[in-house]
Amino acid sequence: MADRVYVFDTTLRDGEQSPGATMNLDEKIRMARQLETLGVDVIEAGFPIASQGDFEAVQAIAQAVENVQVAGLCRAVVGDIDRCWEAVKEARNPRIHTFLATSEIHMKHKLGKTADQVKVMVDKAVRHARQYTDNVEFSAEDASRSDWDFLVQITEIAIEAGASVVNIPDTVGYTQPFEYYDLIKYLMDNVKNVDDAVISVHCHNDLGSAVANSLAAVRAGARQVECTVLGIGERAGNAALEDLVMALNTRRELYDVETGVDTEQLFPSCRRLSQIIGMPIPPNKAIVGANAFAHESGVHQDGVIKNRLTYEIMTPASIGRTSNDIVIGKHSGSHAVKNKAEELGYTLDGEQIQVLFKAVKDLADKKEQVFDEDVEALILETVYRRLDKFRLVDMSVFSGTGDVPPHAAMVMEFGAVGQDAETRRTSEFGEGSIDAVFQAIYALVGIAPKLEMYSVNAVTEGSDALAGVAVRIEHDGVKAVGRANDGDVIRASAMAMVNALNRLVKAKEEK
Ligand code: KIV
Ligand code: ZN
Repeated sequence: MADRVYVFDTTLRDGEQSPGATMNLDEKIRMARQLETLGVDVIEAGFPIASQGDFEAVQAIAQAVENVQVAGLCRAVVGDIDRCWEAVKEARNPRIHTFLATSEIHMKHKLGKTADQVKVMVDKAVRHARQYTDNVEFSAEDASRSDWDFLVQITEIAIEAGASVVNIPDTVGYTQPFEYYDLIKYLMDNVKNVDDAVISVHCHNDLGSAVANSLAAVRAGARQVECTVLGIGERAGNAALEDLVMALNTRRELYDVETGVDTEQLFPSCRRLSQIIGMPIPPNKAIVGANAFAHESGVHQDGVIKNRLTYEIMTPASIGRTSNDIVIGKHSGSHAVKNKAEELGYTLDGEQIQVLFKAVKDLADKKEQVFDEDVEALILETVYRRLDKFRLVDMSVFSGTGDVPPHAAMVMEFGAVGQDAETRRTSEFGEGSIDAVFQAIYALVGIAPKLEMYSVNAVTEGSDALAGVAVRIEHDGVKAVGRANDGDVIRASAMAMVNALNRLVKAKEEK
């Protein structure tokens, strides 16, 4: 029987650390549920000591999922470990993931500790965590730049103290496949008690080698891979889950291992994350990009027509990418909408179905074809939109090439929906029509943030496609991301900015 490689997903922890990928609590829970459906073995839900928000998110995810382990990250110190346990303990199978740096450069300059002190800390931390659970993982941060014999000793200490998983991260994305293979093999051959634990790998993509390094490590005996959906993560990101899983599956004869991942959930998972964080999937992204299965050259097309295997090493269906079927039309009933939502992985109650049904109908009036992506965007837009403190009511925008600068008139509502809500109006000039819209919103809300990022993408194809807008703003050291989809790009921009400002205000309150 093939060995099992455990898939440890850190989209909600390391992934969420990537700029622009911040998710709120509801979004994290929805993503966690999708990861459970995908069949990952472990969800790393966050870093509980980092903030109250992180703590609550880990706790909520621990309660929300059943068939997957839930890990929390903590430094190798008692207070962190205790806080982590508080957050994960209600999971059906909780894991404490504690870490400490082991490279010379980190020990000396970051920790100010000697190698001997680090050894003692590892032992203590793992033993402390073991008082709570026998599911303890230890990570030797910056392992790939650590002395190999020191790593052998650290791994032995962690296992001896009770760690069931020891992770050997390439924290700075520095290693290369053959070097990493040798390192993992060295540990497999020299760590005396290596059979008592799973050796895990966690690769960053700074040199573009995260997936290749992880695969080399599997060849050398690693049996847990840490990764993120779409490879999001610190700096250049982490190893992409979908790439790893499909490489292990497609080249099974090389690796002779299996994972618990349902590959047909790969594309839906990537699409879900992309929708939530408002980051489009690059067209040339391996496995799930729009071009991944598109054959452009005549020679290739000819080959594929004669026999798909000439140029196709896997099928779109195997990653859950069905053809862009038109799903909903003007005449579809609410039942069809409900079924579609369920097929996309959303269980909605009666009221939510009605909200979605109306939104889908409105869109079908404006847009010729309504695709899965549209329905998913509408679910996020209408059903899951949080109760905002202020909302966009109406707007009118002037753009032109003459002497009158672009300007926007804006009406917004503040406070609870209903009688208590206060309506405010203004109009402002801007450099362009979007700038005018933003200036008017800033004037009404009374906050003028720095706009750090603004991006527009078509949710599907065609000139009537929904526009997906994402903005990132900063004010007084607090950052927030806002996203919105709408058939009109200016309206989508306004909605995204209102969304970002609502999140900013909330984040400031929490701070
Ligand atoms: O990159 C890294 O080393 C990490 C550890 C905390 C596992 O994310
Ligand atoms: Zn990392």
